[in-house]
Amino acid sequence: MEKQEEIQNQKFYMEKIKEMIKNQNQKFSIFTMGCQLNENDSEKLSGMAEKMGYEKTEEQAKSDLVIFNTCCVRENAEDKLFGKLGELKKLKEQNGIIIAIGGCMMQEKHITDKIKESYPFVDIIFGTHTLHRFPEDLYKALSEKKKIEDILDIDGEIYEGLPIKRENNIKASVTIMNGCNNFCSYCIVPYVRGRERSRKPKDILDEIKDLAQKGYKEVTLLGQNVNSYLRVEKEKNIQFEEYEGVNSFATLLIAINKIPGIERIRFVSPHPKDFTDDVIEAISKCDKVCKLIHLPLQSGNTKVLKEMNRKYTKEQYLNLVEKMKNKIPNLTLSTDIIVGFPGETDEEFEDTLDVVEKVKFEQVYMFIYSRRVGTPGDKMENQVPEKIKHIRFDKLKKLVENQIEENNKKYVGTIQKVLVEGESKNNKELLTGRTDSNKVVIFDGEKDLIGNVIELKIVSEHMWYLKGEKICQNFHL
Ligand code: 5AD
Ligand code: SF4
Repeated sequence: MEKQEEIQNQKFYMEKIKEMIKNQNQKFSIFTMGCQLNENDSEKLSGMAEKMGYEKTEEQAKSDLVIFNTCCVRENAEDKLFGKLGELKKLKEQNGIIIAIGGCMMQEKHITDKIKESYPFVDIIFGTHTLHRFPEDLYKALSEKKKIEDILDIDGEIYEGLPIKRENNIKASVTIMNGCNNFCSYCIVPYVRGRERSRKPKDILDEIKDLAQKGYKEVTLLGQNVNSYLRVEKEKNIQFEEYEGVNSFATLLIAINKIPGIERIRFVSPHPKDFTDDVIEAISKCDKVCKLIHLPLQSGNTKVLKEMNRKYTKEQYLNLVEKMKNKIPNLTLSTDIIVGFPGETDEEFEDTLDVVEKVKFEQVYMFIYSRRVGTPGDKMENQVPEKIKHIRFDKLKKLVENQIEENNKKYVGTIQKVLVEGESKNNKELLTGRTDSNKVVIFDGEKDLIGNVIELKIVSEHMWYLKGEKICQNFHL
Protein backbone atom coordinates (compact mmCIF):
# COMPACT_ATOMS: atom_id res chain seq x y z
CA MET A 1 0.00 0.00 0.00
CA GLU A 2 1.22 3.49 -0.83
CA LYS A 3 2.29 5.51 2.21
CA GLN A 4 -0.42 8.16 1.78
CA GLU A 5 -3.03 5.49 1.34
CA GLU A 6 -1.80 3.67 4.45
CA ILE A 7 -2.18 6.81 6.57
CA GLN A 8 -5.69 7.37 5.16
CA ASN A 9 -6.45 3.77 6.04
CA GLN A 10 -5.32 4.31 9.63
CA LYS A 11 -7.37 7.51 9.87
CA PHE A 12 -10.37 5.44 8.80
CA TYR A 13 -9.74 3.03 11.73
CA MET A 14 -9.32 5.95 14.13
CA GLU A 15 -12.78 7.19 13.10
CA LYS A 16 -14.27 3.71 13.48
CA ILE A 17 -12.93 3.37 17.03
CA LYS A 18 -14.11 6.87 17.87
CA GLU A 19 -17.62 5.85 16.80
CA MET A 20 -17.35 2.55 18.69
CA ILE A 21 -16.41 4.07 22.08
CA LYS A 22 -18.54 7.23 21.73
CA ASN A 23 -20.00 8.56 25.01
CA GLN A 24 -18.19 5.91 27.06
CA ASN A 25 -15.65 8.23 28.64
CA GLN A 26 -12.84 5.78 27.88
CA LYS A 27 -9.34 6.47 29.16
CA PHE A 28 -5.85 5.39 28.20
CA SER A 29 -2.50 5.41 29.93
CA ILE A 30 0.91 4.99 28.40
CA PHE A 31 4.13 3.83 30.02
CA THR A 32 7.33 4.69 28.18
CA MET A 33 10.77 3.18 28.69
CA GLY A 34 14.08 4.20 27.21
CA CYS A 35 15.36 7.02 25.09
CA GLN A 36 13.94 10.24 23.67
CA LEU A 37 13.12 8.45 20.41
CA ASN A 38 10.77 6.21 22.34
CA GLU A 39 9.26 9.21 24.10
CA ASN A 40 8.65 10.77 20.69
CA ASP A 41 7.00 7.53 19.49
CA SER A 42 4.82 7.59 22.60
CA GLU A 43 3.72 11.12 21.72
CA LYS A 44 2.56 9.69 18.38
CA LEU A 45 0.74 6.80 20.09
CA SER A 46 -0.91 9.29 22.46
CA GLY A 47 -1.88 11.46 19.48
CA MET A 48 -3.56 8.47 17.84
CA ALA A 49 -5.29 7.40 21.06
CA GLU A 50 -6.72 10.89 21.59
CA LYS A 51 -7.90 11.06 17.97
CA MET A 52 -9.72 7.79 18.62
CA GLY A 53 -11.58 9.40 21.51
CA TYR A 54 -9.59 8.14 24.50
CA GLU A 55 -8.70 10.59 27.24
CA LYS A 56 -5.26 10.37 28.81
CA THR A 57 -4.91 9.42 32.47
CA GLU A 58 -1.85 8.82 34.62
CA GLU A 59 -3.69 6.14 36.59
CA GLN A 60 -3.48 2.64 35.20
CA ALA A 61 -6.31 1.49 37.45
CA LYS A 62 -8.68 3.93 35.72
CA SER A 63 -7.59 3.02 32.19
CA ASP A 64 -9.55 1.12 29.57
CA LEU A 65 -6.47 0.91 27.38
CA VAL A 66 -2.91 0.51 28.70
CA ILE A 67 -0.02 0.94 26.26
CA PHE A 68 3.59 0.00 26.99
CA ASN A 69 6.28 1.41 24.76
CA THR A 70 9.31 -0.73 25.54
CA CYS A 71 13.09 -0.43 25.31
CA CYS A 72 15.61 -3.26 25.20
CA VAL A 73 18.95 -1.46 25.36
CA ARG A 74 19.63 -2.80 28.86
CA GLU A 75 18.33 -5.79 30.77
CA ASN A 76 16.57 -3.92 33.59
CA ALA A 77 13.89 -2.75 31.13
CA GLU A 78 12.75 -6.36 30.75
CA ASP A 79 12.42 -6.84 34.50
CA LYS A 80 10.40 -3.63 34.62
CA LEU A 81 7.98 -4.72 31.88
CA PHE A 82 7.37 -8.16 33.35
CA GLY A 83 6.85 -6.65 36.80
CA LYS A 84 4.26 -4.24 35.38
CA LEU A 85 2.50 -6.99 33.46
CA GLY A 86 2.21 -9.02 36.66
CA GLU A 87 0.47 -6.03 38.30
CA LEU A 88 -1.89 -5.61 35.33
CA LYS A 89 -3.17 -9.18 35.36
CA LYS A 90 -5.66 -8.38 38.12
CA LEU A 91 -6.91 -5.27 36.33
CA LYS A 92 -7.41 -7.29 33.19
CA GLU A 93 -9.46 -9.86 35.09
CA GLN A 94 -11.53 -7.24 36.94
CA ASN A 95 -12.12 -4.59 34.25
CA GLY A 96 -11.35 -6.30 30.95
CA ILE A 97 -8.88 -3.59 29.96
CA ILE A 98 -7.02 -3.75 26.65
CA ILE A 99 -3.26 -4.20 27.03
CA ALA A 100 -0.99 -3.25 24.11
CA ILE A 101 2.78 -3.63 24.12
CA GLY A 102 4.96 -2.07 21.48
CA GLY A 103 8.45 -0.78 20.84
CA CYS A 104 11.96 -2.18 20.60
CA MET A 105 11.59 -5.15 22.94
CA MET A 106 8.80 -6.54 20.77
CA GLN A 107 11.27 -6.95 17.90
CA GLU A 108 13.00 -9.67 19.94
CA LYS A 109 11.49 -13.09 19.36
CA HIS A 110 12.51 -14.55 22.73
CA ILE A 111 10.56 -11.74 24.41
CA THR A 112 7.35 -12.07 22.37
CA ASP A 113 7.51 -15.85 22.91
CA LYS A 114 7.75 -15.27 26.65
CA ILE A 115 4.80 -12.86 26.61
CA LYS A 116 2.63 -15.27 24.66
CA GLU A 117 3.50 -18.11 26.98
CA SER A 118 3.53 -16.44 30.40
CA TYR A 119 1.30 -13.39 29.89
CA PRO A 120 -1.41 -14.67 27.49
CA PHE A 121 -3.78 -11.91 28.59
CA VAL A 122 -1.85 -9.30 26.54
CA ASP A 123 -4.11 -8.19 23.64
CA ILE A 124 -1.79 -6.45 21.17
CA ILE A 125 1.91 -6.84 20.44
CA PHE A 126 3.33 -4.41 17.89
CA GLY A 127 6.88 -3.55 16.83
CA THR A 128 8.96 -0.53 15.89
CA HIS A 129 8.08 -0.81 12.19
CA THR A 130 4.31 -1.05 12.73
CA LEU A 131 3.62 1.78 15.17
CA HIS A 132 1.56 3.63 12.55
CA ARG A 133 -0.79 0.63 12.31
CA PHE A 134 -1.83 0.90 15.94
CA PRO A 135 -5.40 2.09 15.10
CA GLU A 136 -5.99 -0.91 12.84
CA ASP A 137 -4.53 -3.35 15.39
CA LEU A 138 -6.63 -1.87 18.16
CA TYR A 139 -9.77 -1.97 16.03
CA LYS A 140 -9.24 -5.65 15.30
CA ALA A 141 -8.58 -6.43 18.95
CA LEU A 142 -11.76 -4.59 19.99
CA SER A 143 -14.10 -5.79 17.28
CA GLU A 144 -12.88 -9.33 16.71
CA LYS A 145 -11.89 -9.88 20.35
CA LYS A 146 -8.75 -11.70 19.29
CA LYS A 147 -5.06 -11.39 20.12
CA ILE A 148 -3.08 -9.33 17.63
CA GLU A 149 0.60 -9.71 16.84
CA ASP A 150 1.82 -7.16 14.31
CA ILE A 151 5.59 -7.32 13.94
CA LEU A 152 7.63 -6.67 10.79
CA ASP A 153 11.24 -7.77 10.48
CA ILE A 154 12.00 -5.59 7.48
CA ASP A 155 12.75 -1.90 7.86
CA GLY A 156 9.57 0.07 8.11
CA GLU A 157 8.83 3.08 5.95
CA ILE A 158 8.80 6.56 7.44
CA TYR A 159 5.19 7.65 7.72
CA GLU A 160 4.29 11.33 7.80
CA GLY A 161 1.05 12.88 8.94
CA LEU A 162 0.24 10.86 12.07
CA PRO A 163 -1.40 12.81 14.87
CA ILE A 164 0.89 13.71 17.75
CA LYS A 165 0.15 14.76 21.31
CA ARG A 166 3.21 16.51 22.70
CA GLU A 167 4.08 16.38 26.38
CA ASN A 168 5.50 19.89 26.57
CA ASN A 169 4.49 23.18 24.92
CA ILE A 170 7.89 24.90 24.94
CA LYS A 171 10.29 22.12 23.96
CA ALA A 172 9.63 19.51 21.26
CA SER A 173 11.45 16.50 19.86
CA VAL A 174 11.63 15.91 16.14
CA THR A 175 12.83 12.57 14.80
CA ILE A 176 15.04 13.16 11.75
CA MET A 177 16.07 9.60 11.00
CA ASN A 178 15.28 6.04 12.01
CA GLY A 179 17.55 3.05 12.49
CA CYS A 180 21.28 2.52 12.78
CA ASN A 181 23.96 0.96 10.55
CA ASN A 182 26.83 1.01 13.03
CA PHE A 183 26.47 -2.31 14.83
CA CYS A 184 28.46 -1.43 17.93
CA SER A 185 29.06 -4.89 19.34
CA TYR A 186 27.22 -4.30 22.65
CA CYS A 187 24.14 -2.72 21.11
CA ILE A 188 20.78 -4.23 20.19
CA VAL A 189 19.41 -1.12 18.45
CA PRO A 190 20.43 -1.97 14.85
CA TYR A 191 18.57 -5.29 15.20
CA VAL A 192 15.34 -3.80 16.54
CA ARG A 193 15.19 -0.47 14.72
CA GLY A 194 16.57 -1.62 11.37
CA ARG A 195 18.77 0.24 8.90
CA GLU A 196 19.28 3.98 8.73
CA ARG A 197 16.74 5.96 6.76
CA SER A 198 16.31 9.72 6.86
CA ARG A 199 13.18 11.82 6.78
CA LYS A 200 12.87 14.23 3.87
CA PRO A 201 14.28 17.72 4.53
CA LYS A 202 10.92 19.33 3.68
CA ASP A 203 8.97 17.14 6.12
CA ILE A 204 11.37 18.01 8.95
CA LEU A 205 11.43 21.74 8.20
CA ASP A 206 7.63 21.89 7.82
CA GLU A 207 7.23 20.18 11.19
CA ILE A 208 9.61 22.63 12.90
CA LYS A 209 7.99 25.67 11.24
CA ASP A 210 4.64 24.44 12.49
CA LEU A 211 6.10 24.02 16.01
CA ALA A 212 7.46 27.58 15.87
CA GLN A 213 4.03 28.85 14.83
CA LYS A 214 2.52 27.09 17.82
CA GLY A 215 4.94 28.87 20.13
CA TYR A 216 7.59 26.17 20.69
CA LYS A 217 11.03 27.63 21.47
CA GLU A 218 13.33 24.62 21.53
CA VAL A 219 13.65 21.60 19.26
CA THR A 220 15.72 18.48 19.84
CA LEU A 221 16.57 16.57 16.68
CA LEU A 222 16.51 12.84 17.28
CA GLY A 223 18.15 9.85 15.65
CA GLN A 224 20.46 6.98 16.55
CA ASN A 225 23.19 8.62 14.54
CA VAL A 226 22.06 12.15 13.67
CA ASN A 227 25.25 13.32 12.04
CA SER A 228 24.92 10.74 9.30
CA TYR A 229 21.58 12.27 8.28
CA LEU A 230 21.06 11.65 4.51
CA ARG A 231 24.42 9.86 4.25
CA VAL A 232 22.96 6.46 3.39
CA GLU A 233 20.62 8.03 0.84
CA LYS A 234 23.59 9.70 -0.88
CA GLU A 235 25.73 6.54 -0.76
CA LYS A 236 22.98 4.42 -2.25
CA ASN A 237 21.90 7.04 -4.76
CA ILE A 238 18.43 7.13 -3.29
CA GLN A 239 16.67 10.20 -4.62
CA PHE A 240 15.69 12.77 -2.02
CA GLU A 241 14.38 16.25 -2.65
CA GLU A 242 16.81 18.89 -1.47
CA TYR A 243 14.84 21.67 0.23
CA GLU A 244 16.07 25.07 1.36
CA GLY A 245 19.61 23.87 0.67
CA VAL A 246 19.39 20.85 3.01
CA ASN A 247 21.44 17.88 1.82
CA SER A 248 23.35 16.91 5.00
CA PHE A 249 23.21 17.24 8.79
CA ALA A 250 25.21 20.50 8.72
CA THR A 251 22.89 22.11 6.17
CA LEU A 252 19.87 20.92 8.17
CA LEU A 253 21.18 22.78 11.25
CA ILE A 254 21.74 25.89 9.13
CA ALA A 255 18.18 25.77 7.72
CA ILE A 256 16.57 25.24 11.14
CA ASN A 257 18.65 28.09 12.56
CA LYS A 258 16.78 30.43 10.17
CA ILE A 259 13.30 29.53 11.39
CA PRO A 260 11.83 32.53 13.25
CA GLY A 261 10.51 31.73 16.73
CA ILE A 262 12.80 28.76 17.37
CA GLU A 263 15.41 29.90 19.87
CA ARG A 264 17.29 26.70 20.68
CA ILE A 265 18.33 23.66 18.71
CA ARG A 266 19.71 20.51 20.32
CA PHE A 267 20.43 17.07 18.86
CA VAL A 268 21.06 13.51 20.11
CA SER A 269 23.02 11.41 19.40
CA PRO A 270 25.88 12.07 17.03
CA HIS A 271 28.64 9.49 16.49
CA PRO A 272 32.23 10.75 16.95
CA LYS A 273 33.36 8.98 13.76
CA ASP A 274 30.89 11.06 11.68
CA PHE A 275 31.65 14.42 13.28
CA THR A 276 32.79 16.13 10.10
CA ASP A 277 34.20 19.66 9.87
CA ASP A 278 31.08 21.03 8.19
CA VAL A 279 29.03 20.01 11.26
CA ILE A 280 31.54 21.66 13.62
CA GLU A 281 31.43 24.82 11.51
CA ALA A 282 27.62 24.83 11.42
CA ILE A 283 27.46 24.50 15.23
CA SER A 284 29.86 27.39 15.71
CA LYS A 285 28.07 29.65 13.20
CA CYS A 286 24.44 28.91 14.12
CA ASP A 287 23.58 31.05 17.14
CA LYS A 288 20.55 28.93 18.04
CA VAL A 289 22.43 25.63 18.16
CA CYS A 290 23.22 24.96 21.82
CA LYS A 291 26.89 24.62 22.58
CA LEU A 292 26.39 21.54 24.73
CA ILE A 293 27.19 18.63 22.47
CA HIS A 294 26.50 15.04 23.45
CA LEU A 295 29.46 13.00 22.20
CA PRO A 296 29.17 9.33 23.25
CA LEU A 297 32.57 7.99 24.32
CA GLN A 298 31.56 4.47 25.52
CA SER A 299 35.15 3.62 26.50
CA GLY A 300 38.42 5.55 26.72
CA ASN A 301 40.57 2.57 25.76
CA THR A 302 41.54 1.98 22.14
CA LYS A 303 41.50 -1.83 22.38
CA VAL A 304 38.06 -1.87 24.04
CA LEU A 305 36.79 0.65 21.46
CA LYS A 306 37.97 -1.68 18.71
CA GLU A 307 36.19 -4.63 20.33
CA MET A 308 33.11 -2.41 20.64
CA ASN A 309 33.35 -1.65 16.89
CA ARG A 310 33.28 2.09 17.57
CA LYS A 311 35.74 2.95 14.77
CA TYR A 312 37.79 5.55 16.68
CA THR A 313 40.74 5.42 19.07
CA LYS A 314 41.26 7.18 22.40
CA GLU A 315 43.53 9.68 20.65
CA GLN A 316 41.09 10.34 17.82
CA TYR A 317 38.34 11.06 20.34
CA LEU A 318 40.56 13.43 22.32
CA ASN A 319 41.73 15.15 19.13
CA LEU A 320 38.14 15.63 18.02
CA VAL A 321 37.30 17.20 21.39
CA GLU A 322 40.31 19.49 21.08
CA LYS A 323 39.31 20.55 17.57
CA MET A 324 35.73 21.21 18.66
CA LYS A 325 36.85 23.20 21.70
CA ASN A 326 39.06 25.34 19.47
CA LYS A 327 36.39 26.01 16.88
CA ILE A 328 33.27 26.34 19.03
CA PRO A 329 33.43 29.08 21.68
CA ASN A 330 31.83 28.11 25.03
CA LEU A 331 31.58 24.44 24.04
CA THR A 332 30.49 22.01 26.74
CA LEU A 333 30.24 18.25 26.31
CA SER A 334 28.21 15.38 27.68
CA THR A 335 28.73 11.69 27.04
CA ASP A 336 27.67 8.05 27.46
CA ILE A 337 30.04 5.52 29.02
CA ILE A 338 29.73 1.75 29.40
CA VAL A 339 31.76 0.03 32.11
CA GLY A 340 32.58 -3.66 32.12
CA PHE A 341 32.44 -4.45 28.41
CA PRO A 342 33.71 -8.06 27.84
CA GLY A 343 37.47 -8.30 28.22
CA GLU A 344 37.89 -4.82 29.76
CA THR A 345 40.76 -5.00 32.26
CA ASP A 346 41.33 -2.69 35.24
CA GLU A 347 44.11 -1.03 33.29
CA GLU A 348 41.93 -0.46 30.24
CA PHE A 349 39.20 0.98 32.45
CA GLU A 350 41.77 3.49 33.75
CA ASP A 351 41.86 4.93 30.21
CA THR A 352 38.15 5.72 30.50
CA LEU A 353 38.83 7.57 33.75
CA ASP A 354 41.72 9.35 32.05
CA VAL A 355 39.50 10.64 29.22
CA VAL A 356 36.89 11.78 31.76
CA GLU A 357 39.64 13.61 33.70
CA LYS A 358 40.86 15.29 30.54
CA VAL A 359 37.60 16.28 28.83
CA LYS A 360 35.74 17.42 31.98
CA PHE A 361 32.26 16.59 30.73
CA GLU A 362 29.27 18.66 31.76
CA GLN A 363 27.29 15.45 32.23
CA VAL A 364 28.10 11.73 31.97
CA TYR A 365 25.45 9.05 31.47
CA MET A 366 27.00 5.91 32.95
CA PHE A 367 25.94 2.36 32.16
CA ILE A 368 26.96 -1.06 33.39
CA TYR A 369 27.45 -3.37 30.41
CA SER A 370 24.38 -5.52 29.89
CA ARG A 371 24.46 -8.67 27.70
CA ARG A 372 21.98 -8.43 24.84
CA VAL A 373 20.94 -11.63 23.06
CA GLY A 374 21.94 -11.57 19.39
CA THR A 375 24.78 -9.06 19.71
CA PRO A 376 28.49 -9.97 19.22
CA GLY A 377 29.21 -8.77 22.78
CA ASP A 378 26.94 -11.43 24.22
CA LYS A 379 28.95 -14.17 22.49
CA MET A 380 32.30 -12.95 23.82
CA GLU A 381 33.76 -15.37 26.31
CA ASN A 382 35.60 -12.98 28.59
CA GLN A 383 32.57 -11.43 30.32
CA VAL A 384 33.48 -9.21 33.29
CA PRO A 385 32.11 -10.42 36.66
CA GLU A 386 29.19 -8.32 38.00
CA LYS A 387 31.11 -7.40 41.14
CA ILE A 388 33.98 -5.89 39.16
CA LYS A 389 31.58 -4.01 36.89
CA HIS A 390 29.99 -2.44 39.98
CA ILE A 391 33.34 -1.49 41.52
CA ARG A 392 34.32 0.25 38.26
CA PHE A 393 30.94 1.94 37.98
CA ASP A 394 31.23 3.35 41.52
CA LYS A 395 34.74 4.60 40.79
CA LEU A 396 33.60 6.38 37.65
CA LYS A 397 30.53 7.78 39.41
CA LYS A 398 32.68 9.25 42.16
CA LEU A 399 34.99 10.93 39.67
CA VAL A 400 32.06 12.31 37.66
CA GLU A 401 30.29 13.65 40.75
CA ASN A 402 33.45 15.39 41.92
CA GLN A 403 33.86 16.95 38.50
CA ILE A 404 30.23 18.10 38.38
CA GLU A 405 30.62 19.71 41.81
CA GLU A 406 33.78 21.51 40.66
CA ASN A 407 32.15 22.53 37.40
CA ASN A 408 29.01 23.86 39.13
CA LYS A 409 31.16 26.26 41.14
CA LYS A 410 32.26 27.91 37.91
CA TYR A 411 28.68 28.98 37.22
CA VAL A 412 28.32 30.97 40.45
CA GLY A 413 28.52 34.71 39.73
CA THR A 414 28.06 34.29 35.97
CA ILE A 415 25.18 35.54 33.86
CA GLN A 416 23.41 32.74 31.99
CA LYS A 417 20.78 32.76 29.27
CA VAL A 418 17.95 30.57 30.53
CA LEU A 419 14.91 29.27 28.66
CA VAL A 420 12.14 29.44 31.27
CA GLU A 421 10.23 26.16 31.13
CA GLY A 422 7.60 26.48 33.85
CA GLU A 423 6.96 26.22 37.56
CA SER A 424 9.47 24.28 39.61
CA LYS A 425 8.13 20.80 40.39
CA ASN A 426 9.17 20.95 44.05
CA ASN A 427 8.07 24.52 44.73
CA LYS A 428 5.28 26.03 42.65
CA GLU A 429 6.27 29.53 43.83
CA LEU A 430 9.52 29.28 41.89
CA LEU A 431 10.27 28.95 38.18
CA THR A 432 12.59 26.53 36.46
CA GLY A 433 14.58 26.83 33.27
CA ARG A 434 17.70 25.56 31.57
CA THR A 435 20.97 27.07 30.47
CA ASP A 436 22.42 26.50 27.00
CA SER A 437 24.47 23.74 28.67
CA ASN A 438 21.21 22.14 29.88
CA LYS A 439 21.75 22.90 33.59
CA VAL A 440 18.54 23.35 35.56
CA VAL A 441 18.20 26.83 37.09
CA ILE A 442 15.58 27.57 39.77
CA PHE A 443 14.61 31.19 40.42
CA ASP A 444 11.91 33.54 41.65
CA GLY A 445 10.02 35.24 38.84
CA GLU A 446 6.66 36.14 37.30
CA LYS A 447 4.79 33.41 35.47
CA ASP A 448 4.67 35.42 32.24
CA LEU A 449 8.39 34.74 31.83
CA ILE A 450 7.56 31.12 30.95
CA GLY A 451 8.57 30.40 27.37
CA ASN A 452 11.12 33.23 27.19
CA VAL A 453 14.89 33.20 27.15
CA ILE A 454 16.06 35.55 29.90
CA GLU A 455 19.34 36.40 31.56
CA LEU A 456 19.84 35.24 35.14
CA LYS A 457 22.66 35.71 37.58
CA ILE A 458 23.69 32.40 39.15
CA VAL A 459 23.88 32.83 42.91
CA SER A 460 24.47 29.33 44.23
CA GLU A 461 25.14 25.79 43.08
CA HIS A 462 23.73 22.45 44.15
CA MET A 463 24.54 19.00 42.79
CA TRP A 464 21.70 18.80 40.22
CA TYR A 465 20.62 22.43 39.86
CA LEU A 466 21.72 26.04 40.14
CA LYS A 467 19.91 28.91 41.83
CA GLY A 468 19.49 32.09 39.84
CA GLU A 469 18.30 35.63 40.33
CA LYS A 470 16.77 38.03 37.88
CA ILE A 471 19.13 40.82 36.97
CA CYS A 472 17.82 44.11 38.33
CA GLN A 473 17.31 46.31 35.24
CA ASN A 474 17.21 49.57 37.26
CA PHE A 475 20.24 49.01 39.46
CA HIS A 476 21.87 52.27 38.27
CA LEU A 477 18.95 54.45 39.44
N1 5AD B 1 24.84 -2.30 27.97
C1 5AD B 1 25.01 -1.12 28.60
N2 5AD B 1 24.81 0.05 28.03
C2 5AD B 1 24.42 0.07 26.74
N3 5AD B 1 24.14 1.09 25.91
C3 5AD B 1 23.78 0.58 24.72
N4 5AD B 1 23.82 -0.76 24.76
C4 5AD B 1 24.21 -1.10 26.01
C5 5AD B 1 24.45 -2.34 26.66
N5 5AD B 1 24.31 -3.50 26.04
C6 5AD B 1 24.29 2.50 26.29
C7 5AD B 1 25.30 3.21 25.39
C8 5AD B 1 24.42 4.09 24.54
C9 5AD B 1 23.29 4.40 25.50
C10 5AD B 1 22.05 4.90 24.86
O1 5AD B 1 23.05 3.16 26.13
O2 5AD B 1 26.15 3.99 26.20
O3 5AD B 1 25.08 5.26 24.08
FE1 SF4 C 1 23.76 1.38 19.17
FE2 SF4 C 1 26.15 2.14 18.23
FE3 SF4 C 1 23.93 2.50 16.73
FE4 SF4 C 1 24.29 3.99 18.92
S1 SF4 C 1 25.60 4.00 17.08
S2 SF4 C 1 22.40 2.93 18.31
S3 SF4 C 1 25.33 2.57 20.31
S4 SF4 C 1 24.81 0.53 17.37
